[in-house]
Amino acid sequence: VQLQHIVRNMPKAELHMHIEGSLEPELIFALAQRNGVQLPYPSVEALREAYAFQDLQSFLDIYYAGASVLLKEQDFYDMTAAYLDRAKADHVRHTEIFFDPQTHTARGVPMGDVIHGIHRACADSEVSATLILCFLRHLSEEDALATLEAALPYRDRFIGVGLDSSEVGHPPEKFARVFARARELGLHLVAHAGEEGPPAYIASALDVLHVERIDHGVRVLEDAALTRRVAAEKIALTVCPLSNVKLCVFDDMGGHNLLQLMDAGLVVTINSDDPAYFGGYVNANYEAVFASLPLGLQHAYDLAKNSFTASFLPQADKQKFI
Ligand code: ADE
Ligand code: ZN
Repeated sequence: VQLQHIVRNMPKAELHMHIEGSLEPELIFALAQRNGVQLPYPSVEALREAYAFQDLQSFLDIYYAGASVLLKEQDFYDMTAAYLDRAKADHVRHTEIFFDPQTHTARGVPMGDVIHGIHRACADSEVSATLILCFLRHLSEEDALATLEAALPYRDRFIGVGLDSSEVGHPPEKFARVFARARELGLHLVAHAGEEGPPAYIASALDVLHVERIDHGVRVLEDAALTRRVAAEKIALTVCPLSNVKLCVFDDMGGHNLLQLMDAGLVVTINSDDPAYFGGYVNANYEAVFASLPLGLQHAYDLAKNSFTASFLPQADKQKFI
């Protein structure tokens, strides 16, 4: 009880959260009504009942359907402002927010409306917030390259690029050129790897894309040499426990490998991924692992500290939190 109180109230950073995954069913319906978008679900309750996933793809299908209500700059603002209020309540002091522009530009939404709406909410929040533009890996590298070029007029509004969506069958190598271009531009680099995909995807994210963090990465433990390397290079893993259970990466929270990852000397952080879909915001993730795994005060401290050290905050700003 005491430990859960500390975990809830400690200052933390969030490094793996898809802003489109923070759309609560109530806001999806409100935006659908505002924009005249027809949803394939009759009610908030029916939509929430559809949140039973077998794997990543079954989630992504519903996640992209939910995002279809986002049309106007103000929609992106409202979604982001709602997330930042939740983050503040969970004692998040800094968050690095993923967004998926291709999901919106494919529906005719201008890139500037996506970025300005999200960015304006960040600027209005007390929580420190920066943006990471993610490429959808089920689409082509040409599409990703065109997306990066389309975002360059707003280069000062985002700090990095990432790689998300359907992992298996879309290895990091597919995006070598667009990550090389992002690197030239001085952007930070991250990629989802080793969520459903094999440890080899973690290795190629590091070797081919030169990413600075691995999103998820829980399958790293299947390769002992790679685990030693990721630990030695202090490459952080942005782990999302409730997501992993909802998407059946682990059968239940008691079977999650978070403690083994920490015991292997890896820089592990806890994050919410898509909090509206997976059963809670970042504190719900901390509470779930502390309730199900033999973790103590030192783990709580390490996890919070890692969240700041693994962030892309300037060194001087990190120091304020550690
Ligand atoms: N897009 C949103 N959430 C994701 C996840 N957990 N993995 C891959 N792509 C995503
Ligand atoms: Zn994710």
